[in-house]
Amino acid sequence: MRPLLPLSSSIRKPIPLLQISFRLHTSTFSSRALSTPTTPLLHHHHPRNNLTFPPPSPYHHTRSMSTTASATSKRLAGKTVLITGASSGIGRSTAFEFARAAAPAGGLKLVLTARRVDTLKQIAADIAAETGAQVHVAGLDVSKVEGEVRGFVERLLPVEFRDIDVLVNNAGLVKGVAKAPSIAQSDIDVMFSTNVTGLIAVTQEVLPIFLKRGSGDVINVGSIAGREPYVGGAIYCATKAAVRSFTESLRKELISTRVRVIEVDPGQVETEFSLVRFDGDKAKADAVYAGVDPLTPDDIAEVIVFAASRRENVVIADTLVFPNHQASATVLHRKS
Ligand SMILES: NC(=O)c1ccc[n+]([C@@H]2O[C@H](COP(=O)([O-])OP(=O)(O)OC[C@H]3O[C@@H](n4cnc5c(N)ncnc54)[C@H](OP(=O)(O)O)[C@@H]3O)[C@@H](O)[C@H]2O)c1
Repeated sequence: MRPLLPLSSSIRKPIPLLQISFRLHTSTFSSRALSTPTTPLLHHHHPRNNLTFPPPSPYHHTRSMSTTASATSKRLAGKTVLITGASSGIGRSTAFEFARAAAPAGGLKLVLTARRVDTLKQIAADIAAETGAQVHVAGLDVSKVEGEVRGFVERLLPVEFRDIDVLVNNAGLVKGVAKAPSIAQSDIDVMFSTNVTGLIAVTQEVLPIFLKRGSGDVINVGSIAGREPYVGGAIYCATKAAVRSFTESLRKELISTRVRVIEVDPGQVETEFSLVRFDGDKAKADAVYAGVDPLTPDDIAEVIVFAASRRENVVIADTLVFPNHQASATVLHRKS
């Protein structure tokens, strides 16, 4: 049977969803909605201005039985993956990589979260059109534990997206290069509340789902900075060291369960990371990557999806990923 929406034509089609003019807090995308843009498929799903598109056509499930599906796509089939910080860089690439890897078998559900909801909607529409994955987007500031993270699964996710199988704790940031005693308190606060207490709070919200089912993957994006503190990075390095400690404790605490706890530590990756560090100063951000060949966010996404799609008894517990020119946080070869 044919898929409802031929992939090639869906990729070429303009995406009309973004013309919706009223403000949405959370939205769900599927390629069926994209295939019939003029049909009034939208309906209010949730009292909190939450908009849901209908579930995808049964054609997706038919396609899911394809005999050509790889072991990777079969292992991801039917899973629900939640990614924090999916609006940019590694999180965005990870969303695409999961959807593409799962596409031959089909049935993947993605929950994309970040603060920039409009950007998430564009990414969701592109992924749904290209791969047929169902994508739900939700505005979630992980640094606001009481106001936003607490209870977010029930508050922001439609029922069919709540049975999360994979949590990718990716949201994170660095601010500045100041050294003590001149580090702005606001920078310290935002780095800890996003990278550490935010990550822990999201994990605590999702973990009961894993424990109830008896399986699930927590994938934490750490950094070389968590292993090797460097000058001008005291706070960021401390936050990533905290992520590392939390991850290792969690793996030990959950040892009698089938929950997998995975850490992926990138070296230098070219994303918006340095732009955020230097408050939007592009010249300073570009200088970080001058004369080197950094990783792309897709390189890290491949590692994350590889880890999530191993056989259930295999835990890719810990990985450190460098570009070829890098040997430590500060040992980088630059072409002159
Ligand atoms: N790039 C590198 O060289 C590198 C190296 C090692 C580790 N990492 C780690 O990789 C992860 C992803 O970074 P990236 O390089 O992809 O940078 P990026 O392009 O700046 O992406 C960061 C993502 O985090 C989100 N985010 C920031 N604050 C948030 C908050 N309070 N609540 C929710 N989401 C938030 C951003 O979305 P919104 O702004 O829309 O909220 C964005 O989607 C981070 O944990 C970073 O520490 C990066």
